[in-house]
Amino acid sequence: MCGIFGYVGSEKASAILCKGLKNLEYRGYDSVGIATVSSRLEIRKGAGKIDDLKVRLNLEEMEGNVGIGHTRWATHGAVTAENSHPHTDCEEKIAIIHNGIIENFYELKTKLTEQGHRFSSDTDSEVIAHLIEDQLSNNGTIPGIASSWNGSSFEHACFEAFKQLRGSYAVLAVRECEEKIVAMRKDSPLVVGLSEDGTFFASDVAPFLEWTKDVVYLENGDFVVADRGGVKFSSQDFGEVARPVCTVEWDLEEAKKGNFEHFMLKEIAEQAETIQRACVQDMAVVDRIAGMVRSGFGVFFIACGSSYHACLTGSYLFSKIANQHVNVVLASEFENYEHFLTENTLVFAVSQSGETADVLEAVRAAKRRGSRVVSITNVIGSSLSREGDELLLMNSGPEICVLSTKTYTSQVVMMVLLACALNGDHESCIRKVKDLYMDVYNLTARSMRDRLKALARDLAGNDHVYMIGRGLQYTTALEAALKVKEVSYIHAEAFAGGELKHGPLALIEEGTPVFVFVSRDNEDRIVSNAQEVKARGGIVIGVSDWNNPVFDRWIKVPDCGDLNPVIQAIPMQVLAYELAVQKKLDPDKPRNLAKSVTVL
Ligand code: F6R
Repeated sequence: MCGIFGYVGSEKASAILCKGLKNLEYRGYDSVGIATVSSRLEIRKGAGKIDDLKVRLNLEEMEGNVGIGHTRWATHGAVTAENSHPHTDCEEKIAIIHNGIIENFYELKTKLTEQGHRFSSDTDSEVIAHLIEDQLSNNGTIPGIASSWNGSSFEHACFEAFKQLRGSYAVLAVRECEEKIVAMRKDSPLVVGLSEDGTFFASDVAPFLEWTKDVVYLENGDFVVADRGGVKFSSQDFGEVARPVCTVEWDLEEAKKGNFEHFMLKEIAEQAETIQRACVQDMAVVDRIAGMVRSGFGVFFIACGSSYHACLTGSYLFSKIANQHVNVVLASEFENYEHFLTENTLVFAVSQSGETADVLEAVRAAKRRGSRVVSITNVIGSSLSREGDELLLMNSGPEICVLSTKTYTSQVVMMVLLACALNGDHESCIRKVKDLYMDVYNLTARSMRDRLKALARDLAGNDHVYMIGRGLQYTTALEAALKVKEVSYIHAEAFAGGELKHGPLALIEEGTPVFVFVSRDNEDRIVSNAQEVKARGGIVIGVSDWNNPVFDRWIKVPDCGDLNPVIQAIPMQVLAYELAVQKKLDPDKPRNLAKSVTVL
């Protein structure tokens, strides 16, 4: 996680960095820091969010046309000013920012400490600055480097230092008196934005969309140097390479809150549109993937969090619509299944961000065993978008809130689309999704929100809520529980309706709220489960298209068959949002979480 952003060009860097870091905050918001280079290297940093620190530390006033900025999601070391990036060498002449994990940092730190380097943080990242310093003191010369590169000793020292790192990293480095940024990436995201006014480096395109839509997606191992004259790319052997420039289709407005109070609400409201866009696929590719499923021997869906819930939903849909079995595995658990993989296995890797480390690790394992991989992601240019054999994009536009909302429903729609394509009839999915437009719109409209706000007021004081469902309603319950717990910090847990009697029923006491997800095709059994809850004093909140007498409260949703997982998830997203607002929490930035989870 963590967001990194750098700028070198004709404009003052600090103001640009402050604006851009705001758009990167979803990657981490424990602390913020900026380093700029003018006649000297200046660093200001502290724990807290960009809006506070910008004022507290006068960040925008820092001088210089070269700067790097960081927003942190803590892994190594507590949330303190000392552990905030940028980190420096002993002499404070070199500054670096880093996203990723340096796996051999302890070994490097021990060696550097023995050599006399003094460390001032508990982070893994700080070793990078000291390694560069160390290389510079060795003259930074690299025997046998490609002759096409005439870099400075600082560039050589960075290159040599980066080579000693194990793990994942996107690093930006600057040095006193050198008006340039040196960058390198391995297994952590880093993109380069090119404009007439300068060069940008960032974890993703959001921070520089205001200035440019021309972007270079770096390859693993790319080493880049930018100064006011331009930018130079080289590959792992230090030889200069050309990288294609792509144009980002995302609109800046899409990455702004507009009239909405929070990104979460805006992104929930966009779903009438985004589920339509999820169906806008190259149908030749969809049909080709359907063919790969049919001819494959063993199909896996791998993902994390909400994307995992979309995959679980997909497994029910594939079974129901296309009579096709798939294995759904949490990406972080996939290593336990790797031995099943062969050249005939097909792996669907699903990740909104396309940068989730657990997912990428699973993809790489699958490729090592010769399996084919279909990537499903929202972020073009992300690692996942480039590492699969086939690619399907969610087309949801930027999702800034840490919680997945619109990308979750897009993933579910794509599962329906694929299942229908397996049946040779993707058209039926497109028709059904079109018909959903007004239903989704109404579920996100003000009147529905007001009803859910009233429910949120009544529920906000609870420590625990439970959710039950069967089949597609079970996986919807899992997703609803995740939404509620991560944004409101209320303990929310979902169970398959039939499992209640095997243990969870013991949790139900007088007044315990239990959401019951019902659809026309599994009505009788889940209503019996709701009766079991009611008999123990639980409050039953039904989510369905009719008001069953067992319900104490009722969230009315239309019955949309296979698309019920979309329709029933949306009011739960709104409810989760309202619970957070009731509890005066920031729905866009839940504590301890970050949007792009680039650590294992
Ligand atoms: C929940 C949420 C997370 C993500 C998970 C996977 O609201 O957003 O659970 O779904 O971290 O992220 P991606 O889809 O980017 O791989």
